[in-house]
This record gives sequence, C-alpha cells and structure tokens, in this order.
Amino acid sequence: MNKAIDIRPATLEDIPKIITLFRDTISHINKKHYSEKQITAWSSSADSIEEWEKRIAKFYFIIAEIENNMVGFAYLKNGNYLEGLFVHTEYQRKGIGSKLLRIIESQVMMNDFEVLKSDVTKTALPFFDNKYFEVLKKQNKTIKGVGFEHFLVEKQF
Ligand SMILES: CC(C)(COP(=O)(O)OP(=O)(O)OC[C@H]1O[C@@H](n2cnc3c(N)ncnc32)[C@H](O)[C@@H]1OP(=O)(O)O)[C@@H](O)C(=O)NCCC(=O)NCCS
Repeated sequence: MNKAIDIRPATLEDIPKIITLFRDTISHINKKHYSEKQITAWSSSADSIEEWEKRIAKFYFIIAEIENNMVGFAYLKNGNYLEGLFVHTEYQRKGIGSKLLRIIESQVMMNDFEVLKSDVTKTALPFFDNKYFEVLKKQNKTIKGVGFEHFLVEKQF
C-alpha cells in the first residue's frame, strides 16, 4: 500500500467510529464463518458505549488511520492479552492488521511479558498463522447467550 498507515492511541471521541467499524467488519468479513444469529449477537455486543469507555481508559488501545480516516483498531488487556483486532472492511489485506499487531507486540515486550495470547475467530486464523501464533485449543464462548467457536492462540517472544 502506498498511503501511510498512522497509529495513535484511542480517545473517547473515537468511540462512534470504533462501533461502526466493529459492526461493519463483523457483518461483512466474519459472516463467512458464522451464522446470522451469531453475527447479530456479536455485533450488538458493541453497543455499550460505557464498555468502550472502560476499554479505552484501562487497556492499551490503538487506532490505525489512513489520511485521518479510521481503518482499524486493536487493544491489549492485562498487558499481554490481545482482546480485539479489527480492520475496516474496505481495507482488508493491505497490511493494516500486521502494523497494528507489530505495535501491540512491542507493547507486550515493553510490559515485560514473554508471551502474547489471544482468543481469535476462525476468520482470523490464517492471519495469526502468518504471524507465527500457535493454536493451543479450540473453545466455545458465549456472547449474549449465543455460542461461538474460537481458538486460543499464543506467540512466545
Ligand atoms: C484478521 C484481520 C485483523 C487481518 O487484518 P488485515 O489488515 O487484513 O491483515 P494483513 O493485510 O496485515 O495480512 C497479513 C497476512 O496475513 C495473512 N492473511 C490475512 N488475512 C487472511 C485471509 N483472510 N486469508 C488468508 N490469509 C490471510 C496473509 O498471509 C497476509 O499477507 P498477504 O496479504 O501479503 O498475503 C482482518 O481480516 C479482520 O479485521 N478480520 C475480522 C475481525 C477478526 O476476526 N478479528 C480477529 C480477532 S478479534
């Protein structure tokens, strides 16, 4: 990609765009691997502004921008658990997820952890495989009463 991908910390003003990106990415990208019922439950889990406020305040939360437009975000919980990584539906496979992950990995190392863990979707497995993550186990999680198949992955440094 020719245009620069800028990374900056998230602020509370980003919340409306974060919610839109989250919902759009799930309903366009993740729908390939999850049912309509699962997608509806998952997208609606983004609606709580209070939850996003807490994440931005408590976690290491970064935004990717191209020409001042939000094209992705990622956040790290408890120093070494990647809880969210989402790239705009129109900007997939342009290196944005890779750049966000690189910055997250540097932060994990700065936090003095030797392992980064995440719980990732079936859709994202090829990406994490490309980044040398190991799949530890397949597991189910429940969002708004609906079950999802996820994969617990980790990368040692
Ligand atoms: C997973 C995700 C964050 C990847 O972001 P991205 O910006 O598209 O990824 P990149 O362009 O940096 O991809 C880097 C490499 O990963 C691999 N990869 C990424 N997506 C892939 C896919 N769908 N299929 C196969 N390989 C893939 C490729 O090797 C790719 O390199 P290449 O494009 O040169 O072949 C993005 O697809 C996404 O938002 N998915 C939906 C949300 C989600 O499931 N998030 C993860 C868990 S919460």
